[in-house]
Amino acid sequence: MAQIIDGKAIAAQIRKEVKEGVQELASRGKTVTLAVILAGDDPASCVYVRNKEKACRELSIHSLVYRPSESITQEELLALIEELNGREDVDGILVQLPLPPHICEKKILMAIDPAKDVDGFHPYNAGALACGEPGFVPCTPAGIIQLLKRSDISISGKECVVVGRSNIVGKPVAQLLLRENGTVTIAHSKTERLKEVTSRAQILVVAVGQPEMITREYVRPGAVVIDVGIHRDENNKLCGDVDFADVFDVAGAITPVPGGVGPMTIAMLMHNCLEGARRSFQNSLKKTV
Ligand code: GUN
Repeated sequence: MAQIIDGKAIAAQIRKEVKEGVQELASRGKTVTLAVILAGDDPASCVYVRNKEKACRELSIHSLVYRPSESITQEELLALIEELNGREDVDGILVQLPLPPHICEKKILMAIDPAKDVDGFHPYNAGALACGEPGFVPCTPAGIIQLLKRSDISISGKECVVVGRSNIVGKPVAQLLLRENGTVTIAHSKTERLKEVTSRAQILVVAVGQPEMITREYVRPGAVVIDVGIHRDENNKLCGDVDFADVFDVAGAITPVPGGVGPMTIAMLMHNCLEGARRSFQNSLKKTV
């Protein structure tokens, strides 16, 4: 039977630490501020943005939420980002995805000042992560590393397999596992003999976007299984990319859905906002001496 990795409890611990950091900065006169842009009214995006606002409120982070209509032009959105890039009081900028189809996502993400890119999606930050330089790390991958570390699961020297190669999860989590001295393989939809590859993993991270695709045949006995997926099954119940019930007694440890990776994403976003504010506060001190 697997140990269940409690993402809710670990996220709560991180939020508490971030709140203390925010208060410490406030005592020195610096308010942490996050600007969020939600273009249009995609229902899932509206829920995500509301949850981000709520987390900011709870941690005393000031949030500015811009809700332009779906018909905003690319030029108008770029102008808003430029304005926020130039504002000294804004520490983090997040453009909620997906964007309306007439807007080029890549152009928008590249317009965000990398020093305020709390999502860590700008190619500058992706490059910094690959080179081991400081920068913003995408929130879900950073959260996965925290789940492992705070559950006393060591990564160094371990056989790690990441299933999925997205820029948002698969590639950055592979980079982070490598940074922690894991032996890392990225598998994806074209990987041959996928079961053989995943069965080597001591740490298996699944971000494929396919409900309950990973069954016990894919899992090495005793492996740590991290499930990034979130879906609704035919009974409208939440489920992940991993068939939890099937894998539970083979794995050594496993994240549940909900309550595993999910709560970590917002916790790490709050962490990134604090980091951005700390850096900008340090830079403002340098300017005044
Ligand atoms: N849409 C779904 N998840 C995310 C996220 O983590 N960041 C942004 N900006 N948009 C998203």
